[in-house]
Amino acid sequence: MRRLKPDEACWCGSGVMYRNCHVAFDKKIDMYKKKHVKVPSHNLIKTPEQVEMIRKSAEVNVAVLDYVAEHIKEGISTQEIDDMVYQETTKRGAIPAPLNYEGFPKSVCTSIDDVVCHGIPSSERILKSGDIVNVDCSTILDGYFSDSSRMFMIGEVSDEKRKLVEVTKECVELGLAAVKPWGFLGDIADVISRHANENGYRVVREIGGHGVGLEFHEEPFVSYVIRKGTGMLLAPGLMFTIEPMINMGSEKVYTDRFDGWTVYTSDGKPSAQWEIQVLVTDDGAEVISW
Ligand code: MF3
Ligand code: CO
Repeated sequence: MRRLKPDEACWCGSGVMYRNCHVAFDKKIDMYKKKHVKVPSHNLIKTPEQVEMIRKSAEVNVAVLDYVAEHIKEGISTQEIDDMVYQETTKRGAIPAPLNYEGFPKSVCTSIDDVVCHGIPSSERILKSGDIVNVDCSTILDGYFSDSSRMFMIGEVSDEKRKLVEVTKECVELGLAAVKPWGFLGDIADVISRHANENGYRVVREIGGHGVGLEFHEEPFVSYVIRKGTGMLLAPGLMFTIEPMINMGSEKVYTDRFDGWTVYTSDGKPSAQWEIQVLVTDDGAEVISW
């Protein structure tokens, strides 16, 4: 990218002169680059206007999940969850991002028990007491993307599964607290994998979080199994998801070879996941969707 002159408008779209805007930011980025740190390119740094649009998308995303939270119950099918997500999303003028995404056939992912993620809603799968269900909702509003997921416990859930769900939520909260401007993605991974392992759980390695906002899936890939102080630099303006998949047993997973989507634990033991969307700010992090 061409170096801007100090009196030119900043690349971030603020309308402010470069000298008074991201010049210090770029110097810092260059300094880390020289040290071979993975740094975000300018197109991953959200402008205030983009953030505003993404927040609006996230308002829909949260409202849809709130609706699901109120209506999910024993005896309904996962197709009925899909119907709720489609209707509640479209009536707010938005589009469910999963629908037709790389051939995904439904509006939401519903992942129960040993399904790790990307479960496909079906009228055959009826929610029963004891199920733990992840509902992963992704929304496009006016071209801007939001993405978050929650766990739901149906009826009487065993203490073992309840603990998995709670510890996984704690992992996300710890990960959020580890988001610091000019820190590293690995700082988030470190606290998450530590907390999971201390509770006897394993973190899925091959699937993780992602940059999000202008696209469904942007750089960086957000791993939860890398070391503290490694991975991409958390420059202010970077936006990504924290969505660890935590397994009660082995970390090994496989993808259903018939539907090409559903990811299962190899040992058939349960897995849990919560997902939030965060923005790195000048003094910490802002939760965009949860
Ligand atoms: N919502 C998932 C995520 O958090 C992506 C699902 S892709 C889909 O990244 F096609 F399965 F919806
Ligand atoms: Co996601």
